[in-house]
Amino acid sequence: MIEGAAMQPVISLRNLRKSFGALEVLKGISLDAHKGDVIAILGSSGSGKSTMLRCINMLEIPTAGEVVVTGESVKLKKQGDGLAIADRRQIDGIRARAAMVFQSFNLWSHMTILENLVEAPIHVQRRPRAECIAEAMALLEKVGIADKRDAYPAHLSGGQQQRAAIARALAMHPQVMLFDEPTSALDPERVGEVLAVMRALANEGRTMLLVTHEIAFARDVATRVVFLHEGLIEEDGPADEVFRNPKSERFRKFISNTQHR
Ligand SMILES: Nc1ncnc2c1ncn2[C@@H]1O[C@H](COP(=O)(O)OP(=O)(O)O)[C@@H](O)[C@H]1O
Ligand SMILES: [Mg+2]
Repeated sequence: MIEGAAMQPVISLRNLRKSFGALEVLKGISLDAHKGDVIAILGSSGSGKSTMLRCINMLEIPTAGEVVVTGESVKLKKQGDGLAIADRRQIDGIRARAAMVFQSFNLWSHMTILENLVEAPIHVQRRPRAECIAEAMALLEKVGIADKRDAYPAHLSGGQQQRAAIARALAMHPQVMLFDEPTSALDPERVGEVLAVMRALANEGRTMLLVTHEIAFARDVATRVVFLHEGLIEEDGPADEVFRNPKSERFRKFISNTQHR
């Protein structure tokens, strides 16, 4: 391997800022995620977790700063007080490399599960149809819903829909997976099956950024924890270390509050 390439972060955020009108939500976030990192992003509601994740694949356009995905800086141009996408086509590539799984699954309701998985690989990535279908079947097998290939999303449980959404993200061959509270919309008895899939991905060495309220899961599976408070990183360190010995008093309070739930 080329010297340096191994060290190149999969994702690099450099002084990322985001405002919505007068509300400054991200106030300068700098973060490097390396291959194999499983980073749990924790923080109170409204601290900017989703916005940070959504800025990585340009679902939100940062107001200032830089986003670098697998060494490629997202091209932004000045527009008004902020920034705008400079190269639309670059964004498709970025979204494939940094695939997102949402709280609300976001499957396409008019497509079967199999169609959901092959849509972007065939039409955006322009890969051969037969290859995409074979791969999609293997992914559905992997997440345990191969029997649902011809069903529509509405006919699946929440847990099955979220596993389909994870398989759909994997079908893009991402370099990093972004999860935004993937279990928050699920019935409690369905949470475990989705966490099990995520744990398996982490064990494969996949790079993951995960916004979650599942503190026990974060503690167990994450390699690193980033705690956001009012748009800034308040605590950042190896998972076992920050939970055992938090530096920030706010983070200490946050974990003691959530652990008693
Ligand atoms: N599209 C938007 N327009 C205006 N305000 C927004 C938008 N998205 C998020 N916000 C605001 O930004 C703040 C941070 O939101 P968010 O990133 O969703 O926080 P978290 O995911 O940590 O709960 C909140 O005050 C929220 O209301
Ligand atoms: Mg959120």
